[in-house]
Amino acid sequence: MIYKDFISKPYTDQLEEVDFGWQSPSNIALIKYWGKKEIQIPANPSISFTLDKCHTKTRVQVSPKVQLEKEFSFEVLLDGKPKPDFAPKIETFFKRVQPYLSFVDSYHFKIQTTNSFPHSSGIASSASGMSALALCFMSMEKTLVSDMDQEYFYKKASFLARLGSGSACRSTQGPLMVFGKHQEIPQSTNLYGVNYQGEVHDRFKNYQDTVLLVDVGEKKVSSTVGHDLVNGHPFATARFEQAHKNLSALLQILKQGDLEAFTKVVESEALMLHAIMMSSMPYYLLLRPNTLSIIEKVWEYRSETNSNLCFTLDAGANVHLLYPEAEKETVIQFIRNELVVYCKNEQYICDQIGFGAKKL
Ligand code: PMV
Repeated sequence: MIYKDFISKPYTDQLEEVDFGWQSPSNIALIKYWGKKEIQIPANPSISFTLDKCHTKTRVQVSPKVQLEKEFSFEVLLDGKPKPDFAPKIETFFKRVQPYLSFVDSYHFKIQTTNSFPHSSGIASSASGMSALALCFMSMEKTLVSDMDQEYFYKKASFLARLGSGSACRSTQGPLMVFGKHQEIPQSTNLYGVNYQGEVHDRFKNYQDTVLLVDVGEKKVSSTVGHDLVNGHPFATARFEQAHKNLSALLQILKQGDLEAFTKVVESEALMLHAIMMSSMPYYLLLRPNTLSIIEKVWEYRSETNSNLCFTLDAGANVHLLYPEAEKETVIQFIRNELVVYCKNEQYICDQIGFGAKKL
């Protein structure tokens, strides 16, 4: 599908008071999206596990627009309280989706959102939040357009979510989502995330993700700035080629259930992401001393046991520990005994692979 397929048809009905609600999960990339062209067109393909418990619930109450002089009329509430500092990001989102949802300037939108994870956890809510909002808009469009099929609904929801935040387009469905064109994944595209349909070994079913909260503050360098610094980065071309190769390798690994090879690709991807940040100009560092201590402990634990525990990182200091469900008890014990000391206020979140967003 191409851009013009997502342009909305003229709506004939006018809605009165209606509301739409979606719960959308967060996701964790195994092959990282880092670097982009215009509005979230990825420089390389990525693949992620959709999470289950880390999610955003969003309700959008739609009513007739009263302040006609404003281009977009909306209010945003987080946990029931007005959140005016979210407004600029939402305003940008409205602007970007307007060519594809011509109703956004005709109504007033009351957007109420809550996250299942603490706001100050360092877990980015942009993926789950933008995905939930995009799905609410799609539910509204589906009400206005009678003949919309499920496939188009999810493609367009992911397409719209991408306009809010690139990784958000991988939060609509699950358990594995691909964003960005890759030659071995025929349906993959740079425009939206697709649910990975290839063969996946049972060893990856119910995979666990325990998020160790190392640094819970606001990120020092935003994702937007970080992506921009990949443009003109001396290693950029090599990085993009590596992402393509790592994704090819991962597809075989997922099929064969090779957990040792999985660890190598996933950990290398995480470290490469941060190596790109550290060698950008200006250079910066999001890892904290405790991130490194955790990584070393994980390596030590793996060499002393026959565990398949591995780590990945997003654009921050927190560590995602990935492991098969069968190891849940022993890994949690290891976390409690050896890793919580490196977590802010001993906080960690136990999550696992999920199956995507749910309508509320
Ligand atoms: O969606 P953004 O712009 O926050 O970028 C996400 C980038 C990473 O989380 C670092 C990697 C990824 O693929 O999710």
